[in-house]
This record gives sequence, C-alpha cells and structure tokens, in this order.
Amino acid sequence: MQLRFSSVAEELWGTRNPLYALHDELRAEGKPVVDLVRGNVNEHGMVFPEEILKDILSRAVSPAAVYKPDSFGQPAAREAVAAYYAELKFTPEQVLITPGTSLSYLYCFKLLADAGGEILCPRPSYPLFDYIAKICGVELTHYRLLEARDWAIDLEHLEHQITTKTRAIILISPHNPTGMVASDDQLAGLAEIAERHHLPIIADEVFSEFLFGLEKLPRPAATKAPLVFTLNGFSKMFALPGIKLGWMTVSGESQLVKKSMSALEMISDTFLPVNEIVQFSVPEIFGSGKKFQRDYVAWVRRCYEKAMGGLADLDFARPRGGFHVTVPTFEDEEKAATDLLREYGILTHPGYYYDIQPNHLVMTFIHEPRTLTKCFRRIGLAARLA
Ligand SMILES: Cc1ncc(COP(=O)(O)O)c(C=O)c1O
Repeated sequence: MQLRFSSVAEELWGTRNPLYALHDELRAEGKPVVDLVRGNVNEHGMVFPEEILKDILSRAVSPAAVYKPDSFGQPAAREAVAAYYAELKFTPEQVLITPGTSLSYLYCFKLLADAGGEILCPRPSYPLFDYIAKICGVELTHYRLLEARDWAIDLEHLEHQITTKTRAIILISPHNPTGMVASDDQLAGLAEIAERHHLPIIADEVFSEFLFGLEKLPRPAATKAPLVFTLNGFSKMFALPGIKLGWMTVSGESQLVKKSMSALEMISDTFLPVNEIVQFSVPEIFGSGKKFQRDYVAWVRRCYEKAMGGLADLDFARPRGGFHVTVPTFEDEEKAATDLLREYGILTHPGYYYDIQPNHLVMTFIHEPRTLTKCFRRIGLAARLA
C-alpha cells in the first residue's frame, strides 16, 4: 500500500551493511564472535549489585507511590546530582533530571536551535547525534580533532566552522571513539571562542569516571564559557543503562542559566518522562554505589591495560579516557574489519562509520579482560599488515 512517511522516517530506514550481514551469517553458523563494538559492561559481569539495587528501589517505592511530579526532577535527585559536582558548587536549581543523555541532547537541540540551525560537533564523532539531529531538524557541522596531536581539538578549525546559523558547540570528553580528554588549556581556548561568538557548549561527560593517567577530568563548566550544559547519567557511571536516569546541569551567566532552565522546565513538563521510583533512588545509588563503582572503574582500567598491551608495538594516539580506541590501518579499513571478523571472529568497525579519514579501525576495549590481549594483538597485526 502507498502511504506517506515523514522525511525523517524515510532517511532513518537503514540498509543492512555487508559487515553486519557477515556478522549475522557467522552467528547463524554458530561461530563465536568477540563483539568489540557494543561496549555493554553488563554483558561481561559488571553489574550493579542486585541486592543493593533491590533494597534501594524498594525503599523508593513509598515516596513515589503518591504521584507528585516535578518537571525539573525530584528535589532529592537534583540535590544529589548537584552534590556530585562538589567543586563546581552547582545548586539543585541548575539541575534537570532526564531519562538519559540521548534525551538530554534532544532537549538541548530543541532549546537552542530552530529547524535549519547548526550544531557544531567533533569529527570523528559518535553516530548518535546524526539521528538526534535529524529528528530535531537541525544540521550538524563539524570541527576537527587532530590525530597527530592525540586527537586534540583543532580550535582554529572550530572557530572557522562557526557561521551565523551555529547555535551550539558539542564537546565529548572523554571522547567516543578516540578516547581524547580535552585539557584545561584546550577548554580555556574553547570557552574563549564560545564567549566571543555567544555560543553555548554542550559538554558530554558520560565517560567522566574512566580516565587513564589523569587525576581529574577538566570540565567546560569550570571555564568562563557563557553557558554550559553538562550531560551525564547513571548509564555508564554506575553501569545502569536500563535505569534510564540522566541529567544536565546548566551553568554560566545567571541570566542565561535562568532562561534556559525555565524553557527546559516547559520541555520536560510536556513529557514528565523519568520514572519516579528511579528518581527517588538517585541519592542512594550515588551513596551505596561507591564501592561497586571503585571495582568497576578498576575493571575498566584492567580492560584498557590488557588492550593496550596487545597494541604495545603500534604507534598511535592512546586513549586518555572512555571505553573506545581508534587505531590506524595502512590499507583499506573495510577489508581490515571484514578480515578480522571472518578469520578471527573479532567484530570492529571501520573508521568511516565515525567520519574518520582514511583507514582506521574503531573498537571498544570493554570485554572479558582475559581475552583482550590476544584479541588486540591480532588487531595490532591487522592494523599494521592490513
Ligand atoms: C559519548 C556518548 N554520549 C551519550 C551516550 C548515551 O548515553 P545514555 O545511555 O545516557 O543515553 C553514549 C552511549 O554510549 C555515548 O557514548
């Protein structure tokens, strides 16, 4: 039957790519595949302790039983989030609770840009924004991260990419998929550009807890940028993606913060999308989750070290944070990814999925640590010999 769909629906109607066709074929034949794409820690035993979670959630049932929604999120949850950023001295009035970072992005895009407005984001980039931007009717433009400088932000290029239609700059740090962590100096430069061009920064810090060789995450919210939306949530922080609890903090010039919060209140109030039981459990997850979080962070570091052990002979920009690594190949990346999958059952992505030019492989090192060194040794060989 002929029936009209929106242009978004038509565009998002994806075609199957050959790498995944091969993946499905191997799986159907019962062949084992080491999936270095998903990065779901729960699949590898990193699960928030069930008994503790049950206790926390059951205690949250009673306050949630009588529905008294707050469009910003329950005050107890907002206080706990503000307290998490102790050094930045946020107040609960600067916090909006959301059902996850992806939705926080959507709120930001809707808050800041009209149809046709531009959002400036890093290249390479995590593909999620493409879809959110399409759904919101905004255009993505890109600034370069420089591989030769450990994927540092090319600030000159970033400023050059700003047009009269630009409405916000996205920073992902720790970055997916390069593992770049923006330094204080870089952030000061970024803040200066944002100030000069009157632009807000959307700071995605979902990998904030996972740093390698760094004591502390430099944050855009600590700079003099005029308006910063800091996005995070429990998905990565406490290995609780299914809980669907995220937030954004809004900081900078008080007038801008006030205006943003009141518009965000309207957007959030339209949906009231966050489960109330989960909201009331936020303070306790932060509190009782600390021990698990320490073990979890140590486990991620172990994965990182095992993976880097496998790549020890390779000259490339090592990640400083997050769950991902990007390695150069000397020849065709599609062939390298296909060969790794066909011959060794290792699923990685070619770099072009993330707008990386030319010839890289992208993968996560979130996997069973015992298998990682061997897998990454194989990837290292593919990277050099492909
Ligand atoms: C950089 C980045 N931002 C945001 C998200 C989505 O976060 P959430 O699960 O809170 O929606 C992800 C998920 O992998 C991510 O890698």
